[in-house]
Amino acid sequence: MTATVTSTSAQPAPAGITFPEGFIWGAATASYQIEGAAREDGRGPSIWDTFSRTPGRVFAGHTGDIACDHYHRYAEDVALMAELGLASYRFSIAWPRIRPDGTGPVNVRGLDFYDRLTDELLGKGIDPVVTLYHWDLPQTLEDRGGWTNRETAEAFADYAEIVHRRLGDRVTTWTTLNEPWCSAYLGYGSGIHAPGVQDPVAALTAAHHLNLAHGLATRALRAAGAKSISITLNPCAVAPLDPDSEADRAAAHLIDGLANRIFLDPLFKGHYPADVLAHIARIADPVWIRDGDETIINAPIDVLGINYYTPAYVSAAPGHPGPLDYPGSHGVKFRSPVGPVTDMNWQIEPAALTRLLTRLHRDYPGVPLMITENGAAYPDGPAENGEVHDLRRIEYVDSHLRACHDALAAGVDLRGYFAWSLMDNFEWAEGYAKRFGMVHVDYTTQQRVLKDSAKWYSEVIRRNGLG
Ligand code: NOJ
Repeated sequence: MTATVTSTSAQPAPAGITFPEGFIWGAATASYQIEGAAREDGRGPSIWDTFSRTPGRVFAGHTGDIACDHYHRYAEDVALMAELGLASYRFSIAWPRIRPDGTGPVNVRGLDFYDRLTDELLGKGIDPVVTLYHWDLPQTLEDRGGWTNRETAEAFADYAEIVHRRLGDRVTTWTTLNEPWCSAYLGYGSGIHAPGVQDPVAALTAAHHLNLAHGLATRALRAAGAKSISITLNPCAVAPLDPDSEADRAAAHLIDGLANRIFLDPLFKGHYPADVLAHIARIADPVWIRDGDETIINAPIDVLGINYYTPAYVSAAPGHPGPLDYPGSHGVKFRSPVGPVTDMNWQIEPAALTRLLTRLHRDYPGVPLMITENGAAYPDGPAENGEVHDLRRIEYVDSHLRACHDALAAGVDLRGYFAWSLMDNFEWAEGYAKRFGMVHVDYTTQQRVLKDSAKWYSEVIRRNGLG
Protein backbone atom coordinates (compact mmCIF):
# COMPACT_ATOMS: atom_id res chain seq x y z
CA MET A 1 0.00 0.00 0.00
CA THR A 2 2.72 2.50 0.92
CA ALA A 3 4.32 4.57 -1.80
CA THR A 4 8.02 5.13 -1.34
CA VAL A 5 9.25 8.69 -1.33
CA THR A 6 12.62 8.77 -2.98
CA SER A 7 14.73 11.77 -2.18
CA THR A 8 16.21 13.61 -5.14
CA SER A 9 18.98 15.15 -3.04
CA ALA A 10 21.76 13.47 -1.11
CA GLN A 11 20.36 14.68 2.21
CA PRO A 12 19.41 12.12 4.84
CA ALA A 13 15.71 11.30 5.09
CA PRO A 14 13.90 13.54 7.60
CA ALA A 15 13.20 12.01 10.99
CA GLY A 16 9.86 10.44 11.84
CA ILE A 17 7.28 12.56 13.61
CA THR A 18 4.10 11.78 15.49
CA PHE A 19 1.08 14.05 15.85
CA PRO A 20 -0.82 14.55 19.09
CA GLU A 21 -3.36 11.92 19.99
CA GLY A 22 -6.73 12.77 18.51
CA PHE A 23 -5.23 14.91 15.73
CA ILE A 24 -7.95 15.05 13.07
CA TRP A 25 -7.07 13.69 9.65
CA GLY A 26 -9.38 14.64 6.83
CA ALA A 27 -9.83 15.64 3.23
CA ALA A 28 -11.90 18.41 1.70
CA THR A 29 -14.01 19.18 -1.35
CA ALA A 30 -16.66 21.75 -2.29
CA SER A 31 -20.11 21.45 -3.82
CA TYR A 32 -19.68 23.21 -7.17
CA GLN A 33 -16.29 21.60 -7.70
CA ILE A 34 -17.47 17.99 -7.45
CA GLU A 35 -21.24 17.53 -7.43
CA GLY A 36 -22.39 18.09 -10.99
CA ALA A 37 -26.17 17.47 -11.31
CA ALA A 38 -26.43 21.20 -11.83
CA ARG A 39 -30.06 21.13 -12.86
CA GLU A 40 -31.31 18.20 -10.83
CA ASP A 41 -33.79 17.89 -8.01
CA GLY A 42 -34.75 21.54 -8.03
CA ARG A 43 -31.31 23.12 -7.71
CA GLY A 44 -31.33 26.77 -8.80
CA PRO A 45 -28.55 28.42 -10.79
CA SER A 46 -25.53 29.80 -8.95
CA ILE A 47 -23.11 32.54 -9.92
CA TRP A 48 -20.65 29.86 -11.00
CA ASP A 49 -23.16 28.40 -13.47
CA THR A 50 -23.52 31.84 -15.00
CA PHE A 51 -19.82 32.67 -14.87
CA SER A 52 -18.64 29.38 -16.33
CA ARG A 53 -21.07 29.82 -19.21
CA THR A 54 -19.70 33.27 -19.99
CA PRO A 55 -17.17 32.88 -22.81
CA GLY A 56 -13.58 33.51 -21.80
CA ARG A 57 -14.10 33.23 -18.05
CA VAL A 58 -13.13 29.62 -17.37
CA PHE A 59 -10.42 27.60 -19.07
CA ALA A 60 -11.74 25.98 -22.26
CA GLY A 61 -15.33 26.83 -21.31
CA HIS A 62 -15.43 24.13 -18.62
CA THR A 63 -18.43 24.15 -16.29
CA GLY A 64 -19.50 22.32 -13.14
CA ASP A 65 -22.50 20.76 -14.90
CA ILE A 66 -21.17 17.24 -14.43
CA ALA A 67 -17.90 17.72 -12.53
CA CYS A 68 -17.11 14.46 -10.65
CA ASP A 69 -20.78 13.46 -10.68
CA HIS A 70 -20.48 13.17 -6.93
CA TYR A 71 -24.20 13.91 -6.56
CA HIS A 72 -24.86 10.43 -7.93
CA ARG A 73 -21.65 8.73 -6.83
CA TYR A 74 -21.43 9.97 -3.27
CA ALA A 75 -21.68 6.47 -1.80
CA GLU A 76 -18.74 5.28 -3.91
CA ASP A 77 -16.79 8.37 -2.85
CA VAL A 78 -17.54 7.85 0.82
CA ALA A 79 -16.35 4.25 0.43
CA LEU A 80 -13.04 5.62 -0.90
CA MET A 81 -12.77 7.93 2.11
CA ALA A 82 -13.32 4.95 4.38
CA GLU A 83 -10.63 3.01 2.50
CA LEU A 84 -8.23 5.89 3.17
CA GLY A 85 -9.12 5.87 6.84
CA LEU A 86 -10.29 9.51 6.96
CA ALA A 87 -11.60 10.57 10.34
CA SER A 88 -13.36 13.62 8.90
CA TYR A 89 -14.64 14.86 5.58
CA ARG A 90 -15.07 18.55 4.85
CA PHE A 91 -17.67 19.28 2.19
CA SER A 92 -19.84 22.24 1.34
CA ILE A 93 -23.55 22.67 0.86
CA ALA A 94 -24.82 24.27 -2.33
CA TRP A 95 -27.06 27.13 -1.21
CA PRO A 96 -28.99 26.99 -4.54
CA ARG A 97 -29.95 23.38 -3.83
CA ILE A 98 -31.51 24.39 -0.52
CA ARG A 99 -33.10 27.69 -1.52
CA PRO A 100 -32.97 27.87 -5.30
CA ASP A 101 -33.53 31.62 -5.38
CA GLY A 102 -31.64 32.42 -2.19
CA THR A 103 -34.49 33.52 0.04
CA GLY A 104 -37.68 31.83 -1.16
CA PRO A 105 -39.14 28.34 -0.72
CA VAL A 106 -36.97 25.58 0.68
CA ASN A 107 -36.18 22.76 -1.73
CA VAL A 108 -36.51 19.62 0.35
CA ARG A 109 -34.86 17.42 -2.29
CA GLY A 110 -31.70 19.49 -1.89
CA LEU A 111 -31.69 18.91 1.85
CA ASP A 112 -32.36 15.22 1.22
CA PHE A 113 -29.10 14.88 -0.68
CA TYR A 114 -26.99 16.22 2.19
CA ASP A 115 -29.00 14.11 4.57
CA ARG A 116 -28.09 10.98 2.59
CA LEU A 117 -24.45 12.06 2.38
CA THR A 118 -24.28 12.75 6.13
CA ASP A 119 -25.75 9.35 6.96
CA GLU A 120 -23.42 7.62 4.54
CA LEU A 121 -20.44 9.28 6.22
CA LEU A 122 -21.59 8.53 9.74
CA GLY A 123 -22.32 4.95 8.73
CA LYS A 124 -18.64 4.62 7.82
CA GLY A 125 -17.45 6.36 10.98
CA ILE A 126 -16.44 9.58 9.20
CA ASP A 127 -17.25 12.89 10.85
CA PRO A 128 -19.01 15.35 8.49
CA VAL A 129 -17.59 18.89 8.60
CA VAL A 130 -20.02 21.17 6.82
CA THR A 131 -19.11 24.40 5.07
CA LEU A 132 -22.18 26.48 4.37
CA TYR A 133 -20.72 28.71 1.69
CA HIS A 134 -18.02 27.72 -0.74
CA TRP A 135 -18.73 30.30 -3.43
CA ASP A 136 -21.88 29.06 -5.18
CA LEU A 137 -24.16 31.98 -4.43
CA PRO A 138 -27.71 31.71 -5.82
CA GLN A 139 -27.78 33.74 -9.02
CA THR A 140 -31.01 35.47 -7.94
CA LEU A 141 -29.14 37.05 -5.05
CA GLU A 142 -26.36 38.20 -7.36
CA ASP A 143 -29.02 39.81 -9.55
CA ARG A 144 -29.80 41.95 -6.49
CA GLY A 145 -26.15 42.88 -5.91
CA GLY A 146 -24.79 39.68 -4.39
CA TRP A 147 -22.31 40.30 -1.59
CA THR A 148 -22.45 44.05 -2.18
CA ASN A 149 -26.02 43.92 -0.87
CA ARG A 150 -26.38 43.76 2.89
CA GLU A 151 -29.50 41.60 2.49
CA THR A 152 -27.33 38.74 1.22
CA ALA A 153 -25.77 38.53 4.70
CA GLU A 154 -29.20 38.27 6.27
CA ALA A 155 -30.32 35.67 3.73
CA PHE A 156 -27.20 33.64 4.52
CA ALA A 157 -28.08 33.45 8.21
CA ASP A 158 -31.59 32.22 7.34
CA TYR A 159 -30.17 29.59 5.02
CA ALA A 160 -27.67 28.47 7.70
CA GLU A 161 -30.51 27.96 10.13
CA ILE A 162 -32.50 25.92 7.58
CA VAL A 163 -29.58 23.58 6.97
CA HIS A 164 -28.88 23.26 10.68
CA ARG A 165 -32.50 22.36 11.34
CA ARG A 166 -32.15 19.37 9.01
CA LEU A 167 -28.60 18.19 9.78
CA GLY A 168 -27.92 19.60 13.24
CA ASP A 169 -28.82 16.37 14.99
CA ARG A 170 -25.87 14.64 13.27
CA VAL A 171 -23.43 17.36 12.16
CA THR A 172 -21.41 18.90 14.97
CA THR A 173 -18.89 21.05 13.09
CA TRP A 174 -20.17 24.01 11.10
CA THR A 175 -18.07 26.34 8.98
CA THR A 176 -19.83 29.47 7.83
CA LEU A 177 -17.68 30.73 4.94
CA ASN A 178 -14.80 29.41 2.92
CA GLU A 179 -12.15 32.00 2.07
CA PRO A 180 -14.19 35.23 2.09
CA TRP A 181 -11.09 36.95 0.70
CA CYS A 182 -11.68 35.10 -2.58
CA SER A 183 -15.42 35.79 -2.62
CA ALA A 184 -14.82 39.50 -2.08
CA TYR A 185 -11.61 40.31 -3.92
CA LEU A 186 -11.51 37.73 -6.71
CA GLY A 187 -15.29 37.95 -7.21
CA TYR A 188 -15.67 41.73 -7.15
CA GLY A 189 -12.09 43.12 -7.31
CA SER A 190 -10.08 41.39 -10.02
CA GLY A 191 -13.16 39.57 -11.32
CA ILE A 192 -11.27 36.36 -12.06
CA HIS A 193 -13.94 34.50 -10.07
CA ALA A 194 -17.72 34.72 -10.23
CA PRO A 195 -19.50 37.06 -10.50
CA GLY A 196 -16.59 38.62 -12.40
CA VAL A 197 -16.96 42.22 -11.25
CA GLN A 198 -13.99 44.63 -11.27
CA ASP A 199 -14.73 47.37 -8.78
CA PRO A 200 -12.60 48.17 -5.70
CA VAL A 201 -15.52 49.63 -3.76
CA ALA A 202 -17.69 46.57 -4.48
CA ALA A 203 -14.82 44.34 -3.31
CA LEU A 204 -14.49 46.17 0.01
CA THR A 205 -18.25 46.28 0.51
CA ALA A 206 -18.44 42.55 -0.16
CA ALA A 207 -15.68 41.86 2.37
CA HIS A 208 -17.70 43.56 5.08
CA HIS A 209 -20.95 41.85 4.15
CA LEU A 210 -19.21 38.49 4.16
CA ASN A 211 -17.91 39.25 7.67
CA LEU A 212 -21.41 40.27 8.68
CA ALA A 213 -22.86 37.11 7.10
CA HIS A 214 -20.47 35.06 9.19
CA GLY A 215 -21.49 36.92 12.36
CA LEU A 216 -25.22 36.64 11.71
CA ALA A 217 -24.96 32.96 10.79
CA THR A 218 -22.86 32.28 13.88
CA ARG A 219 -25.53 33.89 16.01
CA ALA A 220 -28.26 31.80 14.34
CA LEU A 221 -26.27 28.56 14.56
CA ARG A 222 -25.38 29.19 18.20
CA ALA A 223 -29.02 29.87 19.08
CA ALA A 224 -29.97 26.64 17.31
CA GLY A 225 -27.49 24.71 19.46
CA ALA A 226 -24.62 24.12 16.99
CA LYS A 227 -21.75 22.56 18.90
CA SER A 228 -18.71 23.78 17.00
CA ILE A 229 -18.68 26.86 14.77
CA SER A 230 -15.83 28.02 12.59
CA ILE A 231 -14.88 30.07 9.57
CA THR A 232 -12.19 29.16 7.07
CA LEU A 233 -9.82 31.93 5.98
CA ASN A 234 -6.94 31.84 3.56
CA PRO A 235 -4.59 34.25 5.26
CA CYS A 236 -1.92 35.61 2.96
CA ALA A 237 1.48 34.50 4.28
CA VAL A 238 2.90 37.84 3.25
CA ALA A 239 6.40 39.09 4.01
CA PRO A 240 8.46 42.07 2.84
CA LEU A 241 10.81 41.13 0.03
CA ASP A 242 13.55 43.07 1.77
CA PRO A 243 12.92 42.90 5.51
CA ASP A 244 15.40 45.73 6.02
CA SER A 245 13.47 48.07 3.75
CA GLU A 246 10.94 50.20 5.57
CA ALA A 247 9.00 50.70 2.33
CA ASP A 248 8.77 46.95 1.71
CA ARG A 249 7.64 46.42 5.29
CA ALA A 250 4.93 49.04 4.77
CA ALA A 251 3.83 47.28 1.57
CA ALA A 252 3.59 43.97 3.44
CA HIS A 253 1.63 45.66 6.24
CA LEU A 254 -0.85 47.06 3.73
CA ILE A 255 -1.40 43.66 2.13
CA ASP A 256 -1.63 42.02 5.54
CA GLY A 257 -4.36 44.53 6.41
CA LEU A 258 -6.36 43.97 3.23
CA ALA A 259 -5.92 40.20 3.13
CA ASN A 260 -5.82 39.20 6.76
CA ARG A 261 -6.61 41.74 9.45
CA ILE A 262 -9.75 42.96 7.64
CA PHE A 263 -11.20 39.53 8.44
CA LEU A 264 -9.32 38.52 11.59
CA ASP A 265 -9.62 41.72 13.60
CA PRO A 266 -13.39 42.18 13.59
CA LEU A 267 -13.71 38.43 14.14
CA PHE A 268 -11.46 38.24 17.18
CA LYS A 269 -11.04 41.83 18.38
CA GLY A 270 -14.43 43.27 17.52
CA HIS A 271 -13.18 46.11 15.34
CA TYR A 272 -11.52 46.80 12.02
CA PRO A 273 -7.89 47.91 12.34
CA ALA A 274 -7.41 51.69 12.14
CA ASP A 275 -4.93 51.48 9.25
CA VAL A 276 -7.34 49.34 7.20
CA LEU A 277 -10.22 51.74 7.86
CA ALA A 278 -8.02 54.67 6.85
CA HIS A 279 -7.04 52.82 3.67
CA ILE A 280 -10.69 52.10 2.81
CA ALA A 281 -11.64 55.71 3.53
CA ARG A 282 -9.14 56.85 0.89
CA ILE A 283 -11.11 54.78 -1.66
CA ALA A 284 -14.69 55.45 -0.50
CA ASP A 285 -16.73 56.46 2.50
CA PRO A 286 -17.43 53.05 4.08
CA VAL A 287 -21.12 53.68 4.68
CA TRP A 288 -21.71 49.94 4.41
CA ILE A 289 -20.17 49.42 7.87
CA ARG A 290 -22.95 50.19 10.34
CA ASP A 291 -22.87 50.70 14.09
CA GLY A 292 -23.07 47.37 15.84
CA ASP A 293 -21.83 45.30 12.87
CA GLU A 294 -18.42 44.67 14.38
CA THR A 295 -20.01 43.37 17.56
CA ILE A 296 -22.05 40.90 15.52
CA ILE A 297 -18.93 39.75 13.65
CA ASN A 298 -17.09 39.37 16.96
CA ALA A 299 -19.30 36.45 18.08
CA PRO A 300 -17.10 33.76 19.68
CA ILE A 301 -16.17 30.82 17.47
CA ASP A 302 -14.73 27.44 18.38
CA VAL A 303 -12.17 26.82 15.65
CA LEU A 304 -10.42 28.90 13.00
CA GLY A 305 -9.92 27.09 9.70
CA ILE A 306 -6.80 27.92 7.73
CA ASN A 307 -6.23 27.23 4.06
CA TYR A 308 -2.61 27.54 3.04
CA TYR A 309 -0.83 26.88 -0.25
CA THR A 310 1.91 29.42 -0.93
CA PRO A 311 3.68 32.47 0.50
CA ALA A 312 3.74 36.03 -0.89
CA TYR A 313 6.66 38.45 -0.99
CA VAL A 314 5.95 42.08 -1.70
CA SER A 315 7.95 45.21 -2.27
CA ALA A 316 7.26 48.89 -2.61
CA ALA A 317 7.24 49.82 -6.29
CA PRO A 318 6.16 53.42 -6.78
CA GLY A 319 4.09 53.79 -9.93
CA HIS A 320 3.25 50.10 -10.06
CA PRO A 321 -0.53 49.62 -10.46
CA GLY A 322 -0.81 46.91 -7.76
CA PRO A 323 -3.02 43.86 -8.17
CA LEU A 324 -6.76 44.42 -8.62
CA ASP A 325 -7.51 41.81 -6.00
CA TYR A 326 -6.09 44.13 -3.32
CA PRO A 327 -8.17 47.31 -3.68
CA GLY A 328 -6.07 50.46 -3.65
CA SER A 329 -2.75 48.62 -3.55
CA HIS A 330 -0.96 50.67 -6.24
CA GLY A 331 2.72 50.92 -5.48
CA VAL A 332 2.86 47.34 -4.23
CA LYS A 333 4.47 44.61 -6.29
CA PHE A 334 4.20 40.86 -5.69
CA ARG A 335 7.37 38.96 -6.51
CA SER A 336 7.01 36.22 -9.10
CA PRO A 337 7.45 32.76 -7.60
CA VAL A 338 11.01 31.54 -7.17
CA GLY A 339 12.24 28.02 -6.61
CA PRO A 340 10.01 24.99 -6.95
CA VAL A 341 6.40 25.67 -7.88
CA THR A 342 3.30 23.53 -8.29
CA ASP A 343 1.24 23.27 -11.48
CA MET A 344 -0.57 26.45 -10.35
CA ASN A 345 2.80 28.22 -10.48
CA TRP A 346 2.53 28.62 -6.73
CA GLN A 347 5.83 28.78 -4.88
CA ILE A 348 6.39 25.92 -2.44
CA GLU A 349 7.53 27.10 0.98
CA PRO A 350 6.43 25.00 3.96
CA ALA A 351 8.26 27.22 6.46
CA ALA A 352 5.85 30.03 5.56
CA LEU A 353 3.03 27.86 6.90
CA THR A 354 4.81 27.47 10.24
CA ARG A 355 5.33 31.24 10.36
CA LEU A 356 1.68 31.86 9.54
CA LEU A 357 0.40 29.47 12.20
CA THR A 358 2.69 30.84 14.91
CA ARG A 359 1.71 34.39 14.01
CA LEU A 360 -2.00 33.59 14.20
CA HIS A 361 -1.50 31.85 17.51
CA ARG A 362 0.41 34.87 18.84
CA ASP A 363 -1.85 37.65 17.51
CA TYR A 364 -5.22 35.93 17.95
CA PRO A 365 -4.70 33.68 20.96
CA GLY A 366 -7.26 31.36 22.44
CA VAL A 367 -8.84 29.87 19.34
CA PRO A 368 -7.80 26.39 18.16
CA LEU A 369 -6.59 26.23 14.57
CA MET A 370 -7.36 23.66 11.91
CA ILE A 371 -5.75 23.28 8.50
CA THR A 372 -8.92 23.05 6.43
CA GLU A 373 -7.04 22.96 3.11
CA ASN A 374 -3.51 22.30 1.97
CA GLY A 375 -2.32 20.48 -1.09
CA ALA A 376 -0.92 20.85 -4.56
CA ALA A 377 -1.90 20.66 -8.21
CA TYR A 378 0.16 18.33 -10.39
CA PRO A 379 -0.93 16.85 -13.69
CA ASP A 380 0.12 13.22 -13.10
CA GLY A 381 -2.25 10.72 -14.67
CA PRO A 382 -2.39 6.92 -14.78
CA ALA A 383 0.67 5.04 -15.99
CA GLU A 384 0.21 2.04 -18.28
CA ASN A 385 -0.57 -0.21 -15.31
CA GLY A 386 -3.21 2.26 -14.14
CA GLU A 387 -1.24 3.57 -11.16
CA VAL A 388 -0.77 7.29 -10.62
CA HIS A 389 2.72 8.15 -9.36
CA ASP A 390 2.28 11.64 -7.93
CA LEU A 391 5.50 11.77 -5.99
CA ARG A 392 5.60 15.58 -5.99
CA ARG A 393 2.25 15.73 -4.19
CA ILE A 394 3.56 13.36 -1.55
CA GLU A 395 6.61 15.56 -1.09
CA TYR A 396 4.46 18.67 -0.89
CA VAL A 397 2.11 17.25 1.74
CA ASP A 398 4.93 15.60 3.66
CA SER A 399 6.85 18.88 3.93
CA HIS A 400 3.74 20.83 4.94
CA LEU A 401 2.83 18.29 7.58
CA ARG A 402 6.32 18.72 8.99
CA ALA A 403 5.68 22.47 8.97
CA CYS A 404 2.48 21.86 10.95
CA HIS A 405 4.42 19.73 13.38
CA ASP A 406 6.97 22.53 13.81
CA ALA A 407 4.09 24.86 14.67
CA LEU A 408 2.77 22.36 17.21
CA ALA A 409 6.23 22.12 18.74
CA ALA A 410 6.22 25.93 19.02
CA GLY A 411 3.02 25.72 21.07
CA VAL A 412 0.38 26.35 18.39
CA ASP A 413 -2.96 24.75 19.19
CA LEU A 414 -3.43 22.96 15.85
CA ARG A 415 -6.15 20.35 15.91
CA GLY A 416 -6.10 18.73 12.50
CA TYR A 417 -5.29 18.68 8.79
CA PHE A 418 -7.59 18.38 5.78
CA ALA A 419 -5.94 17.61 2.47
CA TRP A 420 -7.13 19.54 -0.56
CA SER A 421 -8.43 17.67 -2.23
CA LEU A 422 -9.95 14.26 -1.85
CA MET A 423 -10.24 14.03 -5.63
CA ASP A 424 -9.48 15.95 -8.80
CA ASN A 425 -12.20 18.49 -9.46
CA PHE A 426 -13.32 21.74 -11.08
CA GLU A 427 -10.57 24.19 -10.19
CA TRP A 428 -12.63 27.37 -10.71
CA ALA A 429 -11.19 29.60 -13.46
CA GLU A 430 -8.74 26.81 -14.35
CA GLY A 431 -11.56 24.33 -15.03
CA TYR A 432 -10.48 20.69 -14.98
CA ALA A 433 -6.97 21.56 -16.17
CA LYS A 434 -5.50 21.57 -12.67
CA ARG A 435 -5.62 18.42 -10.58
CA PHE A 436 -5.44 18.77 -6.80
CA GLY A 437 -6.83 15.33 -5.95
CA MET A 438 -5.30 12.46 -4.06
CA VAL A 439 -7.79 10.43 -6.04
CA HIS A 440 -7.54 10.66 -9.82
CA VAL A 441 -10.78 11.26 -11.71
CA ASP A 442 -11.15 10.29 -15.34
CA TYR A 443 -13.75 12.82 -16.44
CA THR A 444 -14.83 10.69 -19.42
CA THR A 445 -15.57 7.51 -17.49
CA GLN A 446 -15.85 9.03 -13.99
CA GLN A 447 -13.52 6.29 -12.85
CA ARG A 448 -11.70 7.03 -9.58
CA VAL A 449 -8.18 5.73 -8.96
CA LEU A 450 -6.23 6.21 -5.75
CA LYS A 451 -3.03 8.06 -6.57
CA ASP A 452 0.16 7.10 -4.74
CA SER A 453 -0.43 10.15 -2.52
CA ALA A 454 -3.76 8.74 -1.36
CA LYS A 455 -2.12 5.45 -0.38
CA TRP A 456 0.70 7.33 1.32
CA TYR A 457 -1.76 9.64 3.15
CA SER A 458 -3.70 6.65 4.36
CA GLU A 459 -0.49 5.33 5.90
CA VAL A 460 0.16 8.73 7.53
CA ILE A 461 -3.31 8.57 9.06
CA ARG A 462 -2.84 5.00 10.22
CA ARG A 463 0.41 5.78 12.04
CA ASN A 464 -0.71 9.30 13.07
CA GLY A 465 2.55 10.66 11.73
CA LEU A 466 5.35 10.49 9.23
CA GLY A 467 8.00 7.83 9.04
C1 NOJ B 1 -9.00 27.19 -2.06
C2 NOJ B 1 -10.43 26.92 -2.36
O1 NOJ B 1 -11.17 26.88 -1.18
C3 NOJ B 1 -10.66 25.67 -3.19
O2 NOJ B 1 -11.95 25.70 -3.64
C4 NOJ B 1 -9.64 25.62 -4.31
O3 NOJ B 1 -9.88 24.57 -5.19
C5 NOJ B 1 -8.26 25.51 -3.71
N1 NOJ B 1 -8.01 26.69 -2.92
C6 NOJ B 1 -7.14 25.39 -4.73
O4 NOJ B 1 -7.08 26.56 -5.49
